[in-house]
Amino acid sequence: MTRLLLGVTLERICKAVLLLCLLHFVIIMILYFDVYAQHLDFFSRFNTRNTSRLHPFSNSSRPNSTAPSYGPAGAEPPSPSTKPNTNRSVTEKPLQPCQEVPSGLVGRLLIEFSSPMSMERVQRENPDVSLGGKYTPPDCLPRQKVAILIPFRHREHHLKYWLHYLHPILRRQKVAYGIYIINQYGEDTFNRAKLLNVGFLEALKDDEEYDCFIFSDVDLIPMDDRNLYRCYEQPRHFAVGMDKFGFRLPYAGYFGGVSGLSKSQFLKINGFPNEYWGWGGEDDDIFNRISLNGMKVSRPDIRIGRYRMIKHERDKHNEPNPQRFTKIQNTKMTMKRDGISSLQYRLVEVSRQPMYTNITVEIGRPPPRLVRG
Ligand SMILES: *[C@@H]1O[C@H](CO)[C@@H](O)[C@H](O)[C@H]1NC(C)=O
Ligand SMILES: *[C@@H]1O[C@H](CO)[C@@H](O)[C@H](O)[C@H]1NC(C)=O
Ligand SMILES: *[C@@H]1O[C@H](CO)[C@@H](O)[C@H](O)[C@H]1NC(C)=O
Ligand SMILES: *[C@@H]1O[C@H](CO)[C@@H](O)[C@H](O)[C@H]1NC(C)=O
Ligand SMILES: *[C@@H]1O[C@H](CO)[C@@H](O)[C@H](O)[C@H]1NC(C)=O
Repeated sequence: MTRLLLGVTLERICKAVLLLCLLHFVIIMILYFDVYAQHLDFFSRFNTRNTSRLHPFSNSSRPNSTAPSYGPAGAEPPSPSTKPNTNRSVTEKPLQPCQEVPSGLVGRLLIEFSSPMSMERVQRENPDVSLGGKYTPPDCLPRQKVAILIPFRHREHHLKYWLHYLHPILRRQKVAYGIYIINQYGEDTFNRAKLLNVGFLEALKDDEEYDCFIFSDVDLIPMDDRNLYRCYEQPRHFAVGMDKFGFRLPYAGYFGGVSGLSKSQFLKINGFPNEYWGWGGEDDDIFNRISLNGMKVSRPDIRIGRYRMIKHERDKHNEPNPQRFTKIQNTKMTMKRDGISSLQYRLVEVSRQPMYTNITVEIGRPPPRLVRG
C-alpha cells in the first residue's frame, strides 16, 4: 500500500520535473529569438541612421517609424519606406564601428629623410586620400573625426616627408581625418599657438563634425603607428620621446611637438595663448591651462611615443622668445582673456591641395614694446 503510494508520488515528481524542463526550454527559445530579432532590428536602425545622416534633407530616406498600414485592402499602396529598409538590411552588410585598436597596425617604423621625396610620389602612394588631404575608412565607422593642424611657414621640404609618412600611418589607425597646414602670411615673427587657434576655427568652418584636434609640428614623424592619433579622456601629449632629447621626456611638464585635445577640452581651456611670439613657452602655457582647469595630460608608453625630427637650421623670424619664462608664470591671469575667445586674424586664402588643405592667414605682429624689450 505504502509502496504503491510511493510509486505514484515518484511518478508525479517525475512529471513535474519533465514539465519544468519543457517550460525552461520554451523560455530559452523565446529569449533566444527575441535577442536575435533585436539584433536584426538594431542593424536596420543603424543603417537608416547612416543614410539619413548622409542625406539630411531627403524625405525618401527618412524612416517612417509607424507600422505598416493594414487599412482597407488595396486602398493604399504599401508604405514605400518600410520595404527598402528590409531590402537593405538583407542585401547590404552594415558597417561596424572601427576597432578600438586597429588590427592592421605594424608597430615600430623605419623613418629616414635621405631618400628624395616629391609631392607627386606622395600623391601616387595615397590614391584614396581625397582633395584637401581628407580620408575616411571605407570598411568601418570611425569613432572620431580628427583635424590635424600644422603651424607652417617655408617648410615645403619637411611637409613632403610628413605627408609621405603620416598618411599611411593615419590610414592604418582607422580614423576619419583632414590635414590642415596653417600658413603664416608675411615675414613677421612666427606665432605657433595663435596659428593653431586659427586652425581650430577654420577646420570647424570646413567641417563642423570634427571632434578631435591634433596639433603637430611639421618636422616630427612618429616612429610607431601604435601611437594612435586621436583624442582621449584627458588632453594628450604624443611626442614623448624625440630623438633630439635622447628619446626621453625633457621635463615632466613638457607638452611640445605633437599634442591633441578634443573639442570640449580645447574650449575648456579657452584655446591656446595668442601672445607668444617667437620660439618657445607657448607649450608650457598650454600645459598650465590644462592643469589649472583640473585636467591631466595623458601620454603613450615611452617605447611607443618615439619621434624622429627632421634636422634643420633654426627658422628666420622664430628666434627664442625672451619673455617666455615670465609669461608662463601668469597663465592663471591671462588664460581667461587671451585665447580662442579673443582671437583676431585675417584669412588670406584657403586652397585645397590633393594631400592637404592650405590655410594662409595674417595674424599680425608682436606689440612694439615686446620687440624692444
Ligand atoms: C553609410 O553606409 C554606406 C554603406 O552602407 C557607406 O558607404 C557610407 O560610408 C556610410 N556613411 C557614413 C557617413 O557612415
Ligand atoms: C520633401 O518634402 C517637402 C515638403 O514636405 C517637399 O516639398 C519636397 O518636394 C520633398 N522632397 C522630396 C525629394 O521628396
Ligand atoms: C508616414 O508618416 C506620415 C507622417 O507621419 C504619415 O502621414 C503617413 O501616413 C505615413 N505613411 C505610412 C505609409 O505609414
Ligand atoms: C528591393 O525591393 C524592391 C521593391 O521594394 C524590389 O523591386 C527590388 O528587387 C528589391 N531588391 C532586392 C535586391 O531584393
Ligand atoms: C599656401 O598658400 C600660400 C598662399 O597662396 C602660398 O604662398 C604657399 O606657398 C602655400 N603653401 C603650401 C605648402 O602649399
